[in-house]
Amino acid sequence: MSKKIRVCLLFGGKSGEHEVSLQSAKSVYKALDKKKYNVFLVGIDKTGKWLLGNASNYLLNSSNPKLIKLNKANMEAITPVSKENTTQLISLNSVDSKKEIAMIDVFFPVTHGTFGEDGCLQGLLEFTNAAYVGAGVLGSSVGMDKDVMKRLLKEAGLPIADFFTIKKSDYSSKSIKNITSKFNPSTPLRTRFPVFVKPANMGSSVGINKANNIQQLKKAIKDAFLYDTKILIEENVDGREIECAVLGNDDPKASLPGEVMPSKKHSFYSYAAKYIDEKGANLLIPAKLPPKIIKKIQGLAIKTFKVLECSGMARVDFFLKNNGTVFINEINTLPGFTKISMYPKLWEATGVPYQKLLDKLIELAIEKKKQKDNLKRSFEI
Ligand SMILES: Nc1ncnc2c1ncn2[C@@H]1O[C@H](COP(=O)(O)OP(=O)(O)O)[C@@H](O)[C@H]1O
Ligand SMILES: [Mg+2]
Repeated sequence: MSKKIRVCLLFGGKSGEHEVSLQSAKSVYKALDKKKYNVFLVGIDKTGKWLLGNASNYLLNSSNPKLIKLNKANMEAITPVSKENTTQLISLNSVDSKKEIAMIDVFFPVTHGTFGEDGCLQGLLEFTNAAYVGAGVLGSSVGMDKDVMKRLLKEAGLPIADFFTIKKSDYSSKSIKNITSKFNPSTPLRTRFPVFVKPANMGSSVGINKANNIQQLKKAIKDAFLYDTKILIEENVDGREIECAVLGNDDPKASLPGEVMPSKKHSFYSYAAKYIDEKGANLLIPAKLPPKIIKKIQGLAIKTFKVLECSGMARVDFFLKNNGTVFINEINTLPGFTKISMYPKLWEATGVPYQKLLDKLIELAIEKKKQKDNLKRSFEI
């Protein structure tokens, strides 16, 4: 029998989505084919420490989404190092001699949000010469920054809602008139609202508000600046929320689209609708759409993936207006990965079951690393 592939699952992290990530990891670990893979479980705690866990007890309160946490008392502090063109995990617990724990063939980050999805973790993995699942440094960071992401999409002629950005250093409450005059200058003031205000680099709807008037706008701007020094003000799009999963490297494929229907109680797909309220939203998989719209969305999802320099996987989110107009809202390079999350569910509906999807992602990570290894890293005359 051929040797097992050594996969290191990375989860948790210094992010508001730490708990969601633990749930994703639990599902991925359970489904990875143990006959094919030797799996190492590495939790990143909320201060950024890497901790190696044991399959039987790496999580506490694992079936409670609110109380789930790393079982740190039973985990060993480690770090990855690059050694002779391979990546090894080494223990940091032994003070004198740094103990080697394992060689790793592929890292599988199921980390969401800051540090895990924005290129930081990917940069560290590049540094240690590792193969890893998902987008690289550029795709991850561009995908995380809603301002840069939207500027690139616009430049490629792809449909997005009108938006502009404000930097904290340029903002004072006196500039509010300036701001409102920028928005949709051809219409009277009262029709400029509602608008969406969002931090440029965040996720899970944290710091996002819908503002219906100047008072709410001021408050929303203040709130968004708590999370980033750059924020977006965006035109409201009245439409259905459609999501499409993309898988591949150079020749990516798109899944059937799905639909998120936030419950009437929530004015949009907010943090509460996503994670707190169990009945906050319905996922319709696949979405009920005419074939022409499905094709359009799939085509736009693949274009978005390519324009934003992604690889491996991503979920592209859209708004679909009643008149058939489609707007790209955003890309998520490390989407939620529990068994009931949209990304794996969309692939399941398209004919790729969860376990096969994991195999494919690992394959794609190895393929990408091989391509990179074939590049010349020095120049000789
Ligand atoms: N321009 C917009 N028009 C209407 N709803 C929006 C708009 N932007 C965001 N939303 C709502 O807010 C949610 C979160 O915004 P999004 O940009 O996707 O940020 P996040 O990265 O936090 O998911 C969306 O799913 C949608 O419900
Ligand atoms: Mg979103």
